[in-house]
Amino acid sequence: MTSPTTHSRLLAWVDEVARMTRPAAIHWCDGSQQEYDDLCALLVKNGTFAKLDPVKRPGCFIARSHASDVARVEDRTYIAAKSKDEAGPTNNWIDPDALKATMKGLYDGCMAGRTMYVIPFSMGPVGSPFSKIGIELTDSPYVVVNMRIMARIGSAVLKALGDQGEYVPCIHSIGSPLKPGEKDSTWPCAPIEKKYIAHFPEERTIWSYGSGYGGNALLGKKCLALRIASVQARDEGWMAEHMLILALTSPEKKTYYVAAAFPSACGKTNLAMMQPTLPGWTVRTLGDDIAWMRVGPDGRLWAVNPEAGFFGVAPGTSKKSNPHALTTCEKNTIFTNVVHTADNDVWWEDMGIAAPAKGIDWEGKEWTPECGRKGAHANARFTAPASQCPVIDPKWEDPAGVPISAILFGGRRPGTIPLVNEALSWEHGVFMGSSTGSETTAANIGAVGVIRRDPFAMLPFCGYNMGDYFNHWLKMGQKLGAKAPKIFFVNWFRRDAAGKFMWPGYGDNSRVLKYVVERIEGKAQGVKTAIGVLPKAGELDVSGLNLPAGTLDELTKVDADGWKAETAGVAEFYAKFGSRLPSALSAELKGLEQRLTKAAKA
Ligand code: GTP
Ligand code: SPV
Ligand code: MN
Repeated sequence: MTSPTTHSRLLAWVDEVARMTRPAAIHWCDGSQQEYDDLCALLVKNGTFAKLDPVKRPGCFIARSHASDVARVEDRTYIAAKSKDEAGPTNNWIDPDALKATMKGLYDGCMAGRTMYVIPFSMGPVGSPFSKIGIELTDSPYVVVNMRIMARIGSAVLKALGDQGEYVPCIHSIGSPLKPGEKDSTWPCAPIEKKYIAHFPEERTIWSYGSGYGGNALLGKKCLALRIASVQARDEGWMAEHMLILALTSPEKKTYYVAAAFPSACGKTNLAMMQPTLPGWTVRTLGDDIAWMRVGPDGRLWAVNPEAGFFGVAPGTSKKSNPHALTTCEKNTIFTNVVHTADNDVWWEDMGIAAPAKGIDWEGKEWTPECGRKGAHANARFTAPASQCPVIDPKWEDPAGVPISAILFGGRRPGTIPLVNEALSWEHGVFMGSSTGSETTAANIGAVGVIRRDPFAMLPFCGYNMGDYFNHWLKMGQKLGAKAPKIFFVNWFRRDAAGKFMWPGYGDNSRVLKYVVERIEGKAQGVKTAIGVLPKAGELDVSGLNLPAGTLDELTKVDADGWKAETAGVAEFYAKFGSRLPSALSAELKGLEQRLTKAAKA
């Protein structure tokens, strides 16, 4: 195939990678519908995809991954900066030269018997001055079709790149070369200990090997739009964050834009698309995972979603919890690791409809509701175009973005952390973000349900020393001054003694959003406490909820003992950063400890 570009640096690099990986063919992706359909047909032929019922799920496919390849692999993800100190205490580091030598060994001939696809992609609208172009070379057609949903890809991007434009080179291989005549498996990949998700921040380069799943393989998402972009953002004075973006309109028809950072599988997609239970309020979606934010000409913070689709958690998605997500994935959607029902549809746990009498589970085994196993993997996902979301905001592709009025941080915390707590200042808000703790989830391969510090929900996604990242947040606050968004910490995940969630969550989180707006408008007063501003009795609208007596009080009070343990945990975490911890944050921690001591004495 002839190459559709005269970008000589790009051509030389594609040639160099092809000489190393030795694919049987090279295909430059144009991003067309025809190309997408052809690749889906190829995936069906290979057995990776099955086409779902064209009446119930038009244009939809189901895939099952290998059991070793079901989520991001944080243990195998590296920030190979020139120095270990630059990667910082929270990232895995290997000397870049050593890592390149290892990976070149793995890449040697790794695409044998396969096609190498060249995917030009744009994170952000094509041609916007704030967008970033990447080129992913991959031997996975599954990756190509997912990338076409998640990013803007193809000829338009190559055109925007011109023949000298800057791009982030991204190499991806599933790490499973084919010998002549060898039969392929339906989800080829390399064993865990050979998987590498590598970032070279100084070179702005990404090398991924051995996995075909999600953030390990769709390199525009976590690798480029967060890990590499966070480094670019630091250097260029903007922010690349693991945040949803939503538009909230009040009954008075005033619209506020809110960005929220929750760790993986902690509720971003759900909040971004929520259907408020409070009458008169509406939520529209701009993004569900990543926000790029910069100071606009008016001095406010403006946010853009660099993605074009949703790679959403399937289990738990129901008409009740997230009706708009269900509508979004009615058509043109790729489902991975859900149950394939006997009537050629999909099903997952807590989908809100009766389980099928039988089906094939995510491991490809016969499955019945009585078999005692879960049918869908806990990190099963749908890949769906953002444009199909019934509440997509009209501005979601506006290159200028939207002005943010409030930033929410949050995590899965069974105790101590209140339902909503407002920062006393930007610095206090940065302290809150930096000290975010959350239970681990199935979005990463590893233990689930263990509380860990996940600052700004960026622990797995910050491409440089997290201490410097905290400092970058403080500097952004200085730039924004009085125009900075208000910062709140929320927690939908408090549990009672029996382990049950105390707050209904989902659409009822609109009650918290309403309070946030009332704080912005000065209609709610709140109560200043040692930990932040909490809602005053009666200020949180719980009408019609019938919460058990004492629940709201429990959710909005200061748990003195819990906070003592919390500050000790934060101090221990902060100690990792040594002199890279900004002094403003140690001062915030000290201030909190002193306020708690004073409150205990009073
Ligand atoms: P990533 O795509 O991994 O970044 O996840 P996310 O932050 O978008 O999380 P998502 O909205 O997909 O939710 C993950 C899980 O949390 C799902 O099983 C949801 O059902 C559950 N969840 C989301 N919101 C709430 C809530 O308000 N309350 C409770 N109890 N569970 C929730
Ligand atoms: C996350 O883990 O935060 C995700 C899914 O959004 S993945 O794209 O696999 O990283
Ligand atoms: Mn995410």
